[in-house]
Amino acid sequence: MAPDPDRVLIFDTTLRDGEQSPGCSMTQPEKLRVARALADLGVDVIEAGFPAASRGDWESVHAVAREVQGPIIAALARCTREDIELAAKALEPAPRRRLHVFLATSAIHRQYKLNMAQDEIVRSAVAAIKIAREFCEDVEFSPEDASRTELDFLAQVVEAAVEAGATTINIPDTVGYTVPDEFGELFRYLRQNVRGIEKVRLSVHCHDDLGMAVANSLTAVVAGARQIECTINGIGERAGNCSLEEVVMALATRSQFFNLKTGVQTNRLYPVSRLLASITGQPIPRNKAVIGENAFSHEAGIHQHGMLQNRTTYEIMRPEDVGLPRSNLVLGKHSGRHAFRDRVRELGFELEELELNRVFEEFKALADRKKELFDGDIEALVLRAEGSAHGPWTLINLEVSSQLGAPASATVRLKHADGRALTCQSSGDGPVDAAYKAIEQATGLVVKVRKFEVHAVTVGEDAQGETVIYVDYNNRSYRGSSVSTDIIEASCKALLEVINRIAQSQQGGARLASREAAMQASAAAALAGTK
Ligand code: KIV
Ligand code: ZN
Repeated sequence: MAPDPDRVLIFDTTLRDGEQSPGCSMTQPEKLRVARALADLGVDVIEAGFPAASRGDWESVHAVAREVQGPIIAALARCTREDIELAAKALEPAPRRRLHVFLATSAIHRQYKLNMAQDEIVRSAVAAIKIAREFCEDVEFSPEDASRTELDFLAQVVEAAVEAGATTINIPDTVGYTVPDEFGELFRYLRQNVRGIEKVRLSVHCHDDLGMAVANSLTAVVAGARQIECTINGIGERAGNCSLEEVVMALATRSQFFNLKTGVQTNRLYPVSRLLASITGQPIPRNKAVIGENAFSHEAGIHQHGMLQNRTTYEIMRPEDVGLPRSNLVLGKHSGRHAFRDRVRELGFELEELELNRVFEEFKALADRKKELFDGDIEALVLRAEGSAHGPWTLINLEVSSQLGAPASATVRLKHADGRALTCQSSGDGPVDAAYKAIEQATGLVVKVRKFEVHAVTVGEDAQGETVIYVDYNNRSYRGSSVSTDIIEASCKALLEVINRIAQSQQGGARLASREAAMQASAAAALAGTK
């Protein structure tokens, strides 16, 4: 069946371009959670990673390929046989898969990064695409830094890539340099000057260095691109990538202008966005378009008056279109299980009965400490329940005292899964420092906290605080987070989450080593077979 000319594919690269940006790295289980949420969201392609980058990346791509159904699963590779074979092997379990090969084409990259002449670039791209086609019918080629490449050379590379068998040609604005009119012209130029271009799908991939990634992507689709590469919450290298929620809602809200559609269930945007923010610990700015907390709130009296008469006076999208419940009705300690379950559903989460009961108990406990519970509180409870790292240590009790001008002291009581209960006391520079030292004494694990962040989950003096910490231990980085109305407690639980992860990876070390050996053996066997 011929592809629908009005359909724009959404290629999500949160797990590849997004994940490689600072502060956004994810564990394999976290990547799987995100990938499943992306499949539910209805994206067409999930770029699951760059298998040649590390063994962990290879495993994650493999796990997504094995476990996530629906979208095409893609993996990135440089133009080398080794990269392509590793990517192909990682993708093997996916019923629908794509190999994405890339090579920089701009003069600046040719000279300083690759030290390659134009004809070598063309030869290398063509050879790589042909190798990729040995493994997969669906091959995407990206001339990296395309927007700063000489137009005639770009057309030459793209034509050679099409001839070699690429099925999607992706045009990246790698450094976020282009502007909408110029980028639209680039697409028109390629469509007019590349033989065979009508046989392939044109794609766009923009970075946000000058804040124009979404605008540039939209201009590209107006000029003929039919795939947009983007990330949830716009995470990505430097200033980020084109934001999926913004570009999808622009196409949906201005459908009469664009006359294009995507397969995205827009009412899943908000839950996916919150899920990613909670996993990466990167809060969404309040004023972020579409999914920011302020995106649908109206403060000015004149706006509120207009809204009361008719919402369309100041609202171009409805909150429920992006999955935000219209009402922010406050729940409290008298709210029943049904009201709670309905709100959880309205927020886009489906919990199993047992899980729901557990979160409801936590909700009740929180309602005892906090007068009103907002959606943000409920999201925090649900996201935490879904993703928290279970491990040997649990916080049983915490006592802190601090006084201006004197060291603080903390006593913590922890329980270990083997039945031990330990109480340790320490002093430090402030209550968090004192409590952290006591936890380190009790668990015997001394870590280096590299970054410590606290922010309010909702509004009001009794708002819950979320603590996110970044920790180094044994040359590895870990992230932990927790939420509580008491930020010292949240800080301790965030540290315990990290310590539990470390303890788990120590316990699982032997298991992992044997699994890695098996994986290495299977990759080696596969490569031997393909050579
Ligand atoms: O920004 C870029 O050029 C990329 C390519 C690998 C597509 O991420
Ligand atoms: Zn990129």
